[in-house]
Amino acid sequence: MSDADFAIVTRDLTKTFSVARRHVGRFAAIRSLFDPIRVHRTVVDKLTMSVARGELVALLGPNGAGKSTSIKMLTGILTPSSGEVFVDGRVPHRDRVGNARNIGAVFGQKTQLWWDLPAKQSLAILRDIFDVPKSVYDRQLADFDAILELSEFWDTPVRNLSLGQRVRCEMAGAMLHDPSIVFLDEPTIGMDVVVKEQTREFLRAQVQERGRTIVLTTHDMTEVARLCERVLLINHGRLMFDGTLEQLKSKYGSGALVNVTFSEPVGALEVPGARVVSHDAMQAVLAPMGVTTPEDIVRALISRFPVVNLAVDETNIEDLMRDVYLTTADELAHKRDSPDSDRDSA
Ligand SMILES: Nc1ncnc2c1ncn2[C@@H]1O[C@H](COP(=O)(O)OP(=O)(O)O)[C@@H](O)[C@H]1O
Ligand SMILES: [Mg+2]
Repeated sequence: MSDADFAIVTRDLTKTFSVARRHVGRFAAIRSLFDPIRVHRTVVDKLTMSVARGELVALLGPNGAGKSTSIKMLTGILTPSSGEVFVDGRVPHRDRVGNARNIGAVFGQKTQLWWDLPAKQSLAILRDIFDVPKSVYDRQLADFDAILELSEFWDTPVRNLSLGQRVRCEMAGAMLHDPSIVFLDEPTIGMDVVVKEQTREFLRAQVQERGRTIVLTTHDMTEVARLCERVLLINHGRLMFDGTLEQLKSKYGSGALVNVTFSEPVGALEVPGARVVSHDAMQAVLAPMGVTTPEDIVRALISRFPVVNLAVDETNIEDLMRDVYLTTADELAHKRDSPDSDRDSA
C-alpha cells in the first residue's frame, strides 16, 4: 500500500522547539535578557505510525507528552523539524489549503466560532468559507441536529453558550464541509456526562455512517473504552504503545492491585508475573502483568510469605493509565541510560 492509501502516515516525525533558558547566579535576569541561553527541546521524537481510513483512534499521553504538537503537525499548523507526514497523501504544511479542505479540527481549548454571533450564523460563515453548497449544508445540519440537538440554542450568541453547547457546535462546524479526517484535541474536557455521551454517539455515527477517520486526544478513559478501537500512547514525544485497549491491559496489567500485609518483615519480594508497585518491609502493593491474574498473585503470596491480610483493588482504567505512564517513563529512562541506546543525542 502507498502512503495515499492510509488516512495518516508519519515516519520519524520530529518537532524540536528552541527555548530560552535562564542564566543562574549573579545578574541572571539581566544576562537572560541580553544573552539568552537557547536550548533545543524535542517534544515529538521520531513518531512513526499510520491510521487506516475509517479508524477512530485515541492519542493518549500525560500532559506535555506531545499530543497537541503532533496534531498541529498533522493539521499543517506547525512544520516538522524532521521526518515525514502524510494526511490523505498530502504533506499538510506544504499544502495547508488543500489539507484544510479535507480535514476538520476541534481544539477543546480554543474556538473556531464567532463569539458575538448566534450559533447558527457562526456555522453559516464556516459554510461560506468552505464553499459548502446550500443543499449539502441543509442536509448536514439536519443530520447533526438529530444527535447533537443544536436547534435548541441556534439563536444564542456563542459567548452565551454553555461549554457543552459550544463543543457540540464546534463539532458540527468541524464536519460541515464533509472532511474525510477529523482531529479532536481534548474536545470533551470539562463536559458533563450527558453531553459526553451525546458527542460520543455523534462521533460513532460519523465514523460508521460517513466513513470518517477520527483522531481523538482525551484524558477520559471511559471515552476511550467506549469509542476507540485503537490506542496510540505517547510519552515524552515517543510512541510507547500502538494497539487495542485489551492489548494495552495485557501488556501493562489489568489495572487491578493486590495489597498485602505481612506478619513479619519481608526483604526481597519477588512474585512471578507481578510488578511490585510499592514495598516497605511489612506491606506491599503488587500489580499483575500479562496473563497473570490478581488471584494468581494472592495464591503465590500466601504460599511463600507470612501473609496476615490481603485485599484486591479492582482499579479503574484511570489507574491503569497512571501505571502505564509511570512504566513507560521508566522504560524511557532505561533506554536513555543504556549505552546501546538508539536515541540520537539532542
Ligand atoms: N511553541 C512552543 N515552544 C516551546 N515549547 C513548546 C511549544 N509548544 C509546546 N511546547 C512544549 O512541548 C511539550 C509538549 O506539548 P504539547 O504537545 O502541548 O503536549 P500535550 O498536548 O501532550 O499536553 C510541552 O512540554 C510544551 O511545554
Ligand atoms: Mg494538548
